[in-house]
Amino acid sequence: MHFRFAYYHSFRQIMLVSAVMAGSIAIATGCQNFSGPAKGEKRVTVEPCDTLNVSYARTIQPLLKSNCYSCHSNAIQTVGVNMEGYANVKLYADATLLVGVTSQLPGYAQMPQGGVLSDCNKNLIRAWVNQGAKNN
Ligand code: HEC
Repeated sequence: MHFRFAYYHSFRQIMLVSAVMAGSIAIATGCQNFSGPAKGEKRVTVEPCDTLNVSYARTIQPLLKSNCYSCHSNAIQTVGVNMEGYANVKLYADATLLVGVTSQLPGYAQMPQGGVLSDCNKNLIRAWVNQGAKNN
């Protein structure tokens, strides 16, 4: 019993040290690698993670296409949600649903379902919405 506890304890310490080391490496290599690609996430390459003047056409639309269209597009509208086309996305942006579901705010379904966006992609969506969710 005593042995098992000690083993468990040191295992946790090793895990903690590994996590801290991985975090430091991620920070050193920049935002786009901060959390690594989530399982199943198709990353849109934006280097560096530039959240100034985020463009719908260059950044948000491709990001949504890669991560959301498989369930929410003109062709497939899971639960009636369509993320294809600026007018549709703008509705969700204005209703705070877009940021709610992608940043895992309390009370929102977590999207993309079965995965999670990188911190960089979450920040890009938040910045674009905060900048007025423009058709830019
Ligand atoms: C694998 C399929 C799948 C993918 C990919 C996916 N969704 Fe969803 N989405 C769902 C399902 C299923 C629901 C309903 C879940 C629920 O209400 O709990 C949903 C619900 C939603 C809702 C409505 C939430 C609400 O509370 O009314 C929004 C908005 C949404 N998704 C946005 C997105 C966005 C943005 C992405 C990409 C970042 C995305 N989804 C990716 C399957 C998906």
